[in-house]
Amino acid sequence: MTDNFIQFHKPYINDDEINEVVATLKSGWLSMGPRTIQFEENFKDYIGADFSVSVNSWTAGGHLALEAFGLQPGDEVIVPTMTFPATAEIVYYFGAKPVIVDVEEGTFNISIKEIEKAITKKTKVIIPVHYAGQPADLDEINQIAKAYNLKVIEDAAHSLPAFYKGEKIGSISDVTVFSFYATKTLCTGEGGMICSNNEEFSERTRLMRMHGMNRDAWKRYSDACSWYYEIIGPGFKYNFTDLQAALGLVQLRKVDEMLEMRKHIAALYTKELRGNEYIYLPVIKDDRETSWHLYPIRLNLEALTIGRNDFINELKSLGVGTGVHFMPVHQHKFYKDSLLLQNNDYPVANDAFERLISIPIYPGLTDNQVAKVIESIHFLTKKFSR
Ligand SMILES: Cc1ncc(COP(=O)(O)O)c(C=O)c1O
Repeated sequence: MTDNFIQFHKPYINDDEINEVVATLKSGWLSMGPRTIQFEENFKDYIGADFSVSVNSWTAGGHLALEAFGLQPGDEVIVPTMTFPATAEIVYYFGAKPVIVDVEEGTFNISIKEIEKAITKKTKVIIPVHYAGQPADLDEINQIAKAYNLKVIEDAAHSLPAFYKGEKIGSISDVTVFSFYATKTLCTGEGGMICSNNEEFSERTRLMRMHGMNRDAWKRYSDACSWYYEIIGPGFKYNFTDLQAALGLVQLRKVDEMLEMRKHIAALYTKELRGNEYIYLPVIKDDRETSWHLYPIRLNLEALTIGRNDFINELKSLGVGTGVHFMPVHQHKFYKDSLLLQNNDYPVANDAFERLISIPIYPGLTDNQVAKVIESIHFLTKKFSR
């Protein structure tokens, strides 16, 4: 990789994060402790949720949420196909069945029509994914959930922060789970947060993230408490750490500023690429705001002599890194075979997947780099036009 290569993503880590990590290392408390507790507090205040429980990944958070809802073997959970497989994988942990449905053209969020078709007597939960950062149709999803007595877990791995009808994502449905994975809009390397307004639910996830222990190590070893604890259930080792919280505390302070930087880049892409007839740009509905975690363009393949994968290689040779979000879940061999999925049932996701390329969008990407991405796209679409 040359120095000029534009990486698909780079975390926005400055001296503030580094100093806070060093201070944590010197503090004598590395695992879950005072910084984790402070981060949870600050996060719930930022989101506007009543409760927040930190975990070591979105995947762990989704698992704990399903556990707290009492998911049983044979139950069904509706999941959109346009997601990272973790959204579906957590359902397997219970011997339950993810019911993978197609998405809506344009936004690539879960299709309301497909949810309605997928509901059976066994359905217990819907997990809408806010694809690329744009909130799914939450009013319709929550109406369906109410009518059929289902729970809703929002997969907000991409949407910190995002807004649905003016309301910040994080306290609209029963539960919202965020990811702080390295490429996400708030990065702690690995990590996640479960937000809800339900105390009993929240308490269950809090205990089960740490072996089902009724007292955290922090409380057991600090001078405030005794060594004693009891186990209330067979829990998990899913806790966050103060080293991660050191990053999280600083990143959270600049999460709005980072959004503005991504918005600026998105606006440049939209302005400069709008006139290019060989690509389609992201479609954002009027009543919501995306986090711009991703900027996925789609190739107008009918007007080009080149396929998506070759286009990605050409971009790479011009010094532009990209990603693909996502290979739909139903196309992964394991899910296809174990759930006996038919490719024809997912026309929208299949068509999008052939065309999708996520181009770089992150704080720290300079206007010059953005101009180079734009120029490279124009150059290649012209070169490979029919
Ligand atoms: C939509 C979506 N859901 C869930 C996850 C899983 O997140 P984590 O890596 O924090 O478990 C990801 C991660 O890429 C994701 O993109």
